[in-house]
Amino acid sequence: MPELRRSLGYLYLQETKFHRESMQTRHRPQINPTESFKRYPSAEKILLPRIWDGEKNNFWQIIQNRRSVRSYSDEPLTLTDLALLLWASQGVTAQAGPYYLRTAPSAGALYPIESYVAVDGVQNLSPGLFHFDVRGFQLERLTSEPPCKAVAKAALDQSFLAGAGVVFIWSAVLRRTMAKYGHRGLRYIFMDAGHIAQNLLLASEALRLGACPVAAFFDDEINHLLELDGEDETAVYLAAVGRKA
Ligand SMILES: Cc1cc2nc3c(=O)[nH]c(=O)nc-3n(C[C@H](O)[C@H](O)[C@H](O)COP(=O)(O)O)c2cc1C
Repeated sequence: MPELRRSLGYLYLQETKFHRESMQTRHRPQINPTESFKRYPSAEKILLPRIWDGEKNNFWQIIQNRRSVRSYSDEPLTLTDLALLLWASQGVTAQAGPYYLRTAPSAGALYPIESYVAVDGVQNLSPGLFHFDVRGFQLERLTSEPPCKAVAKAALDQSFLAGAGVVFIWSAVLRRTMAKYGHRGLRYIFMDAGHIAQNLLLASEALRLGACPVAAFFDDEINHLLELDGEDETAVYLAAVGRKA
């Protein structure tokens, strides 16, 4: 398979392997660290409800039932649904010194993934793009236009995204993890995103909502919607959520 061996992805995997013999001597790039949390100080803040309805769901049944769902009804999600989805995917569950530990694991507890939501169908929340402030458990409003059509367009025109109540957009702040783990840190960043996404998908099923993960998108177009530079911080993964049609 010479063509595989020449590919960028293959070379990246080879170059970032740990080897017992060279653990102490291997080259580590100097990458400066950055802030652990992103803030939008002047954005309107929407406090999220912390009232769980206490509904009991069978964990094993939820795993059995989860399926990617791409067809949604017009019925909006509740703000509590959205709060639960945000909590399940990135909520703070404990504090250990300076670390805000969360529902999903993170390499080195560095939490490189930021969550944004494109809201088009949530009761008591007018449409727009929002940033999730994990420590304050609140949303920070970035825009006030219905965003899901534009997100669908940027996601390789996958039109089902336009019918979602919410599209989660996860970005990576690369320095948070790569300052400690170097090139190999990039592997960890995508693993972190996968953990977060799976929590979201299972939480959606627990709420009987339909969800679908999406990795096919024009990176720069999604970054542009969120005003991310695409270098220090870049979109890595999306997930659409809505009421099952
Ligand atoms: C990394 C990743 C990227 C995906 N990207 C897309 C996507 O861009 N569009 C889409 O419709 N589904 C996407 N999916 C969903 C898969 O198509 C789906 O998980 C697969 O067909 C298995 O079906 P299931 O999720 O119902 O078990 C993606 C899934 C993963 C894990």
